Amino acid sequence: SDESFIAYAAAAPNLALIKYWGKRDSRLVLPLNNSISVTLDDQLMRTVTIATASPEFAEDSVELNGKPAEVTDRMRAVLQSLRQRCQRGQDLASWKVRVATRNSFPTAAGLASSSSGLCAFAVAVARLYGIVGDGGSDSCDADTLRWLSTVARLGSGSACRSLFAGFAEWSAGQRPDGVDSTASQLASAGHWDLRVLVCVVGAGAKSAPSTQAMARTVATSSLLPARLSCLPDRLAAVREAVAGRDFASLAEMSMRDSNCLHAVCADTYPPVHYLTDASRAIIDFVHRLNEASGRVVLGYTADAGPNVCLLAQPADVHLAAGCLQRAFDIGPVVGDLGEAADNSKVPSGWAGDGSEGATARHRIESLLICRLGRGALDIPQAEAAAWFDSD
Ligand code: DP6
Repeated sequence: SDESFIAYAAAAPNLALIKYWGKRDSRLVLPLNNSISVTLDDQLMRTVTIATASPEFAEDSVELNGKPAEVTDRMRAVLQSLRQRCQRGQDLASWKVRVATRNSFPTAAGLASSSSGLCAFAVAVARLYGIVGDGGSDSCDADTLRWLSTVARLGSGSACRSLFAGFAEWSAGQRPDGVDSTASQLASAGHWDLRVLVCVVGAGAKSAPSTQAMARTVATSSLLPARLSCLPDRLAAVREAVAGRDFASLAEMSMRDSNCLHAVCADTYPPVHYLTDASRAIIDFVHRLNEASGRVVLGYTADAGPNVCLLAQPADVHLAAGCLQRAFDIGPVVGDLGEAADNSKVPSGWAGDGSEGATARHRIESLLICRLGRGALDIPQAEAAAWFDSD
C-alpha cells in the first residue's frame, strides 16, 4: 500500500539560553561555540510535516503552509544524508520526495522558527526511510541519535537541539567533517518545571536573517573573540544551574548571554539590530522587578528578532504576568497562567501606584506562556498526522 511511503513528524521550537552565533564552516553548519537550549511545549507552537515518496514525482519538492517553497541547498544536504542511510531499499531512496510543512504558531506572532521546521523535516524523512522508528528517542540507538542530530544540523544549526525534550546542548565539535558536532539531552522536561513567557513584540523593521547576520559578525566583529573566550565558563555555569535547579544562576547566565549576543550584533559592521524600544523596555522591566523583589523573579533572552522570552518558576508566572500588565499595553495572554498571585509577593511600587505605567507604555502584542516540552522524536507519528490534517 501507499501507507509505507508516507511519514509524519512534528517538532517544537527551542529557545537558546546560551546562543549559537557564528560558524566555523557554513556549508556543514559547524558552529564556533557550544549552545544550550530549552525545547518549548509543542501544544502552543509546533511545526508538523508530512513526507511522501513516489516513483511518479519528477523532482523533490517542498510546501510551506500550503504554498510551494524553494528546496534550499540545506534541505538538499539533509535529503542526501538521509538517502544514503535509507533502510527500506534503494528504490525508495531513489524516488523523489514531497515534504509539506505547516506551522501552528499563533497568528501574526512572528515566531516562525527554523529550529522546529528543519527538525521536523529531518525526522519526517528519517521515518519515511525507516532510519528511526516511532518509539521516541529512547528507542533509537545512541549512534543513530547522534547521527540524526548532525543531519538536522545541516538543515539549520538550531534545529539539532529540537530533537530533544527539555534541556539540550549542541557541542561545537572540532573535526572538520563535523561528525562530532552533535546535540544531546542535558536534562528531561520533567527534571525542572521552568516556564517561558514569550513576549510577542510588534515586528519592527524586517530583521536580518540569522544565517547572513552571523556570517557578517564572524567577518567583522572584534568583540566576537571576547564572547567566545568567556563562553566555556558560562556554559559550565548553565550546566551546573540545570543540574541543581538553580533558577537565579540560570536566569543570570541567560540574561548575560542574550545581552552579549546583542552587543556582538551591534559591533558587527554594518551593525545588526534585532531589539526594538519595546524589547529594551521589557529587559529593563525585568531588572527593575528583580531589584524591587530582592530576588531573581525573571530572566530574559532574545534571539534574532524583537520578541523577548522571559524565564520564570511556575509559582511566579501569575505575578510576572500581573506586573507585565501594569507596565505594558498587553494583547491576549495564551497558555497556563498558574495560581493567582499572592499579593504580598508583588513588590511595592508594582501594586498599581502608576509608577511603572508613567513612562510610555509599550505594546506587547501577545503573551504566550509555555512549559518545556517533548523532543521531535518523542511526538508519535499518529499525533503529528492528526495535527497535520487539522491545522
Ligand atoms: C540567535 O539556527 O537559525 O537563534 O544555522 O544559519 O540556520 P542557521 O542559523 P539558526 O540560528 C539561530 C541563532 C539564534 C541562537 C540559537 O538558536 O542558538
